[in-house]
Amino acid sequence: MSPNKESDRLAFLGQLAAGLAHEIRTPLSTLQANLQLLQEDFDEPRDERERRALQRLTLLLKETARLEEILNDFLRFAAGHKLDLRPTDLNRVIGEVLEFVTPEATQKKVRVLKSLGEMPKVSVDGNLFKQALLNLVMNAIQAMPNGGELILKTSRWRDFAQLDVIDTGTGMSAETASKCFDVYYSTKKTGTGLGLPMARRIVHEHDGTLTVTSEEGKGSCFTIRLPVEGEVQAKAGGAIPL
Ligand SMILES: Nc1ncnc2c1ncn2[C@@H]1O[C@H](COP(=O)(O)OP(=O)(O)OP(=O)(O)O)[C@@H](O)[C@H]1O
Ligand SMILES: [Mg+2]
Repeated sequence: MSPNKESDRLAFLGQLAAGLAHEIRTPLSTLQANLQLLQEDFDEPRDERERRALQRLTLLLKETARLEEILNDFLRFAAGHKLDLRPTDLNRVIGEVLEFVTPEATQKKVRVLKSLGEMPKVSVDGNLFKQALLNLVMNAIQAMPNGGELILKTSRWRDFAQLDVIDTGTGMSAETASKCFDVYYSTKKTGTGLGLPMARRIVHEHDGTLTVTSEEGKGSCFTIRLPVEGEVQAKAGGAIPL
């Protein structure tokens, strides 16, 4: 199959899958609404039978909520992104994401540290990029159930702005590290496995890269590299002989 045909087929399958997810949402919300009404009917169980019914209803409601979450995540993932690119200070974005997660980090005994270099502005869709970074930071916090350190570091690497999200958590086995960017791969009880593929896709849409190094029992480091456009162009221009 030619690359064009293959990408057309994939785009078509993507649309089909997104359509399917939308279609499932309507009956699912009917199911959910009716289960909720039933649950209210059994709110004060009068005997053992009613108590068991209430227990089952609660379980069913939990499962429908989970299905809804999976569909929402999927739809968010399937949706193509139109980038609203603006010159952005990555250090500021880090500040905003950290402000959002610090209460949770503190509660989990995770110390948040910043090591911010002097950075050139990069061309970034702020909201999307924040989503990608948030996925990495949430993973890092979740990898430290007994507390630890979360370090956000910015630096220059050749013509790229580099951002490292480092944690001192569980780390990953070689197998997990090789699969962690796969869609729906998760080792967590209630994980959807879309956090990392979504983050990587957002970074790729910015012509950047997202990679990981990890050591089991020690921690992980997720590295984002984004091209520093102005400088790349200036250099390319400068290389042309006069
Ligand atoms: N910082 C990390 N430390 C250790 N393992 C990680 C880390 N980040 C990701 N992983 C591994 O990669 C897997 C995939 O991560 P991803 O964010 O895609 O999904 P998830 O976190 O399991 O689910 P969700 O993001 O939907 O809550 C995780 O289940 C975990 O095994
Ligand atoms: Mg995650």
